[in-house]
Amino acid sequence: MLQATLSAPTLVGDLDALIVRAREVASRAYAPYSHFRVGAALVDAQGAVHVGCNVENASYGLTVCAERNAIFGAIAASAARPFAALAVSCVDATEGGCSPCGACRQVIVEHFRGDAPVQVDGLGCFTVSELLPHSFQMERA
Ligand code: THU
Repeated sequence: MLQATLSAPTLVGDLDALIVRAREVASRAYAPYSHFRVGAALVDAQGAVHVGCNVENASYGLTVCAERNAIFGAIAASAARPFAALAVSCVDATEGGCSPCGACRQVIVEHFRGDAPVQVDGLGCFTVSELLPHSFQMERA
C-alpha cells in the first residue's frame, strides 16, 4: 500500500530489492569496534539508488551511521530530493533488526517525503512521519 504512493519511476514497489542493496553495503561497513555492520539504501526522487554504511572511528563519537552516510553521499552526488524510500539492514543484528537512531531520524525527516516508506530489515515498514513525529523544525518568527 505504501509503495503505491511513491512517485519515483524505478524501484517503486520494490522495497525488497532495496533491502538487498542495504544488506550488500552493510557487508562493506567499517565497524571494528562494535562489530555491528549496518547498511542503508535510498531511492531518490528520480528513482536512482544511493547507498551508505556505518564508518566507525577509534574516537568513538566520530562514527557516522549508515543512514546518514547514504543521505550525505546522495546529496554530494546531486541526487534529486525529496528522497522517496529508504531501506536499512544490519547484518549482525538479532531478529528485531536495527531501527534508525534518533539522530538519523532527524536527518531523514529533512530529506525524505513524509510518506516515504522506511523498510527496516527484520522489523517492518514505517513511514518517515511515523518514525519521527513532531520532528524539530526551525521556524523562526
Ligand atoms: N548505527 C548505524 O549505522 N545506524 C543506526 O541507526 C544506529 C547505529 C551504527 C553506528 C555504530 O557504528 C554501530 O551501529 C553501533 O552503534
